[in-house]
Amino acid sequence: MNLRFTVDGVPTTVVIAAGESLMDVLRRIGKTSVKNGCDRGDCGSCAVLVDGRAVNACLVFAGQVDGTAVGTAEGLAHDGELHPLQSAAVEGGAVQCGFCTPGMLMLAVDLLSRNPEPDEAEVRSALSGSFCRCTGYVKPIEAILAAAGTLLERRS
Ligand code: FES
Ligand code: FES
Repeated sequence: MNLRFTVDGVPTTVVIAAGESLMDVLRRIGKTSVKNGCDRGDCGSCAVLVDGRAVNACLVFAGQVDGTAVGTAEGLAHDGELHPLQSAAVEGGAVQCGFCTPGMLMLAVDLLSRNPEPDEAEVRSALSGSFCRCTGYVKPIEAILAAAGTLLERRS
């Protein structure tokens, strides 16, 4: 079937196979920030936004997102400028191998859209579905809190 959706703001049509996951389709069309860490919903490295809410793309059939807007980490930067979450992650040393990072970023985008001023416990809870084997969670949490501050300053 033809899947019609927008990916990082770009109207996109893809022929998909029955049962193909959103994760596999996104990677097939070049969105390789969407990582396959487990293929069964355990690690969060494939997290993307579907109409603004974070989902594990390996658990979603591609056919389910027809007509939606899907966002990946590759759509976060604009006009060559990193999103504050990306800048904070880089500046705060929150990226090591980076495998978990795109998924964490999408979980953080979802969190900050619902809760622009999260406390540490709320950030930790938002990241609970993401497994990082390298940096742990202290630096990613610090980075998300720093980015939340930057975004609030920009709005004021
Ligand atoms: S690859 Fe989707 S949750 Fe691990
Ligand atoms: S930075 Fe390597 S898994 Fe998180």
